[in-house]
Amino acid sequence: MTPPLAVASDRHELGLRLADARRAGAAVAFVPTMGALHAGHACLVRAARDRVGPEGRVVVSIFVNPLQFGPGEDLERYPRSFDADLAVCAREGADVVYAPRVDDVYPGGQPAVNVSPGPLGEVLEGAVRPGHFRGVLTVVAKLFGLVRPDVAVFGEKDYQQLVLVRRMVADLCLGVEVVGVETQREPDGLALSSRNRYLDPEQRQRASALIRVLEAGRSAQERGRDAVLGSARVELRRAHGLDLDYLVVTDADLGDLPAAPPPGTAGRLLAAVRVGGTRLIDNLPLTLGGTPTGGDR
Ligand code: PAF
Repeated sequence: MTPPLAVASDRHELGLRLADARRAGAAVAFVPTMGALHAGHACLVRAARDRVGPEGRVVVSIFVNPLQFGPGEDLERYPRSFDADLAVCAREGADVVYAPRVDDVYPGGQPAVNVSPGPLGEVLEGAVRPGHFRGVLTVVAKLFGLVRPDVAVFGEKDYQQLVLVRRMVADLCLGVEVVGVETQREPDGLALSSRNRYLDPEQRQRASALIRVLEAGRSAQERGRDAVLGSARVELRRAHGLDLDYLVVTDADLGDLPAAPPPGTAGRLLAAVRVGGTRLIDNLPLTLGGTPTGGDR
């Protein structure tokens, strides 16, 4: 019989809940979240279970991290739905939910030592949200230290976050395998996000144009970077009520791309828009310049 979901409200309890797994050498998969779980998170928990199998342990953290919210952002009104979140975790077969208070994660208050995301933390989301990725990486590093996972699962929707976490793990030799999971979408293509709850029905309708902009861009991927941006911009002009923050094509690690990269180069098309007071981000993978030919025979 599968043991029921355990809820650990502090690091001590978390340690106790994982002690048997550590003794047995069972693999631990970790899904860090800020709660307000939706079908996208459910998919992350399933991916975590797939990675470690029935013998492994799946830990989900639910923690709205104050360090990654800037002044005037939505820390206070960030959606909280703890009981529903536990139901999602139980349904998807998580073993442990770690749902700490702020002083369990930051016992001494604001930490003196933080993880600097480097230059990649200053662009795109980081340009609009100064300090955001320092807060994200600092809490992810702390959570990795508390949970000590073998594998950690993140959604591709927050693509810059995923790339930066991978970079942190590599640069600081943290020894955690980072798995990215494809963005889950509503039937009309809107990427699932806890912040979609802020949209009123009319804004929700307008928000669905964002994926059409990205898909229009992707439809031109064979013709290269500038064609992708051109097609996306044409669709953007057709869309009403999307206030553009950025629309960029990068390589798969968010680096710059030449205008004509070799055929088959992996890229990413990323956009951020505002709809009313809500900021939405989304992205799609690209294969630029068509598929490479087999070369000389
Ligand atoms: O993606 C999120 O929900 C958060 O940024 C994370 C990774 C849980 C860190 O607080």
